[in-house]
Formats: sequence, C-alpha cells, structure tokens
Amino acid sequence: MEGNIFQPYLHAESIFRENRDVLRPSYIPDSLPHRERQINQLASVLATALRGAAPSNVMIFGKTGTGKTAVVKYVGHEFRRADIEDRVEYFYINCEIVDTPYGVFQNVGNRFIQDFDERIPFTGLSTERVYNLLRRKIDDAARVVVIALDEIDKLVYKSGDDVLYHLTKINDDLHQAKVSLIGISNDLKFTEFLDPRVKSRLSDEKMVFPPYNAKELGDILEQRAQLAFDPGVIEEGVIPLIAALAAQEHGDARRALDLLRVSGELADRKGRNHITEVMVQRAKNKLELDLVIEAVRSLPTHSKLILLGIILQQEVGIAKLTTGEVYDTYSQLCRRAGLGPLTQRRVTDLISELDMLGLINAKVKSFGRGGRTKEIQSSVSAPDVKRILNRDEVLRELRSYRPKVQTTLI
Ligand SMILES: Nc1ncnc2c1ncn2[C@@H]1O[C@H](COP(=O)(O)OP(=O)(O)OP(=O)(O)O)[C@@H](O)[C@H]1O
Ligand SMILES: [Mg+2]
Repeated sequence: MEGNIFQPYLHAESIFRENRDVLRPSYIPDSLPHRERQINQLASVLATALRGAAPSNVMIFGKTGTGKTAVVKYVGHEFRRADIEDRVEYFYINCEIVDTPYGVFQNVGNRFIQDFDERIPFTGLSTERVYNLLRRKIDDAARVVVIALDEIDKLVYKSGDDVLYHLTKINDDLHQAKVSLIGISNDLKFTEFLDPRVKSRLSDEKMVFPPYNAKELGDILEQRAQLAFDPGVIEEGVIPLIAALAAQEHGDARRALDLLRVSGELADRKGRNHITEVMVQRAKNKLELDLVIEAVRSLPTHSKLILLGIILQQEVGIAKLTTGEVYDTYSQLCRRAGLGPLTQRRVTDLISELDMLGLINAKVKSFGRGGRTKEIQSSVSAPDVKRILNRDEVLRELRSYRPKVQTTLI
C-alpha cells in the first residue's frame, strides 16, 4: 500500500460521524420541530380511519423545503403503527416518479395482490382495465385505504386530472372499502387545471405549510448537527449564519441542511476538523454554482446559443445588449453552427425564459416616442458558463467565435 495514491484518503479522518445520511433529504428525524401543529392536524384527520370510517381528503400546500414530505411520511409511519386492529392501508406515492394514471393504478393495485403471477403488468392493459382491477382488489380487502400523492402537480401537468377524477369518485363504486387521498404540492396554481368537481372533492381539508424563519431553521439545524457531528466541531456562529442565509431565500429547510452538509464536506476535503463561517460561504457559492450548471446544462440548444451570444459580446466589452443585438449575434452563431435561426419573436420568448431562470438579466427600457427594448446582460460567471456550454457538441465549435460587433444607434 505504501505510496498508493488512495492511501491518504483511506486514513483521512472525517468530521462526520458514522452516519452522514442524517443530513440527506431522505432522512426523517424522530421529531420535526416547528411542525407539531401540522402533524396534529393531519393525525386528527387520519384518526377517523383507525375507527373504520373514511377520512376527508386533504390537500397540503407549501413552498419547497417547508417539511411537507417529511410530515406526511412521519405521520404515515405513526399511522401504520397505530393500526393495531389492522383496519387501514396506507400508501405513499411520489408522482414525480409514478406520473401516469396507469402507473398510479398499477402501483396501488399491486399492493393488494400477493400472488406474483397475478400482478398487474407494467404495460399492456388498458388504463380502464387496470382501474377496474384496482377497484375490485381494494373492495375485496375491505379496508380504509389512504393514498398520499406527493408532488401531485407533476401528475396533473403530465397526465391531466383523469386519475384524480377516478380516485376521488372511487368510493361511489366501493361496497366494503373506502379510499381517502392526501395530495401534496409546492405549486398552488395546479388546481386551476383541475375539473371543479375534482378540485372541491380533493380539498375537503386544506393545509398550508408556512416557510421557516431563521430561528426555526436554527432549531432544525441544531437537531441534525447533533446527530451528524461530535460536539465542538461546528464553530459558534455557523448555525445562525446558515439559518439566516436559508431564511433569506425562502425559509427552505432542505437548503439549510444542504449548506450544513456541503460545509462539512469542504472541511473534510481540506482536512480540517472544524466547520467555520468561511466554509459556509464557500458552500453557498458551490451550491449556487451547482444550480447554475444544472440550469445551463438542461437548456435547449437555441437557448444555449442565445446565452453564448450574450457572453461572447460581453467578452468583447459590450455589457448591455438590446433584443435586436442579441438576435443578431444569435443568428450569426446559428449560421456558424449550421442551424436555421428561430424567429425573432420566439427568441424574445426564450430571452424571457433565461431571465426567469436567473441566467440573464433583462430590463425593459423605454426610449424616445414610446419605443421600447430590453437591456440584456448575463448574470452568471462567464467562464463557468462557457465551460459548461463547451460540453455541448454543437456549441464546442463556436467557443472561439468572435461576433461581428455592430454599433447600433437605437
Ligand atoms: N420541521 C423539520 N424538522 C426537521 N427537519 C425538517 C423539518 N422540515 C423539513 N425538514 C427537512 O428538510 C428537508 C426538506 O423537507 P421536505 O422534503 O419535507 O420539504 P418539502 O416541503 O416536501 O419540499 P418540496 O416541495 O421541495 O418537496 C428534509 O431533509 C426534511 O427532513
Ligand atoms: Mg416534498
């Protein structure tokens, strides 16, 4: 082993305790500080099921990282434990993964089918047929069935509200069993896309999870830090700083825990045995850059070309561009890449999208006689973005392209 390149890593001490997964989003702690009220409210609705009756359907809303998934999983777990008389079935489905009506029906149906040979196949039957199978199986089981549909908006955007129409109406067709739904979403708007009947049935009860404030985030971080690190590893001031940063954004506990985890990883990498405020700032930059990288990487080619055009112009000293200038550079790049440019109108839409993603900043500017244009500049680090864009086959050729500079008199 002497001289092996991996040797230093094998013996490197980590400041994390054995189980660093306690800082990962999938970990659910034994208690959820500052969500006691929501937990009790949900429990009081579900308690009806333990007495054999169907609980109301519940819709849970709240911004990202406000503990919706954690609370539902926690309550679901307790709910199962409390079911000593074996009266209920509880299912959790993440609709980001299971996002078609067929998938949802198949998923629920199969949990009632023990015999492997009788299981509903992944494909091949009509959705109606799968629904009927599911309905029969649920009724045979003669239980109260609670189905939690997390990220329910994804299901509706992808597949419409048919599946919810069926599930909220299923009780009319059941004789011995009852079904209740818990819907979870961080998008309030998706209910606009629902049939009014589905909408009203789905939200017999509505709960809204507020964002966490800095003090609450501090308590959540403190609880996890005790599980993840030995006492004294985190310098004073670190947790309040992370809590303040995450509260400034939108009270997102996931973000706060990510900051703590990444700060710890940076300390590890540097071989330090303390987490300092400086590391938190570095962790923040790293997480922000990761977000930018992800956003840029998943852009469609034409949006990438628009962004590249803006950055290339910036490199030759033109910081602020009009929509016309952006279009001009973009068209030059398209020609270079052998692609037909989109219409100016479409490009204007893509510019607005880039603005919404925070990759550029586009301000509307008026000039004489009611004329208007946008003043566009990139709001991300040019070298970082160029590096990511260069990974795209189409764009790699263009990296050294110098746009023809045009002086526009507006
Ligand atoms: N009150 C709390 N106490 C302890 N940990 C919490 C609390 N609230 C949230 N968390 C933790 O924060 C992270 C994010 O929470 P969660 O996944 O529940 O957010 P969410 O509201 O479902 O967000 P999204 O809408 O993005 O799905 C998880 O790791 C979760 O365990
Ligand atoms: Mg969630």
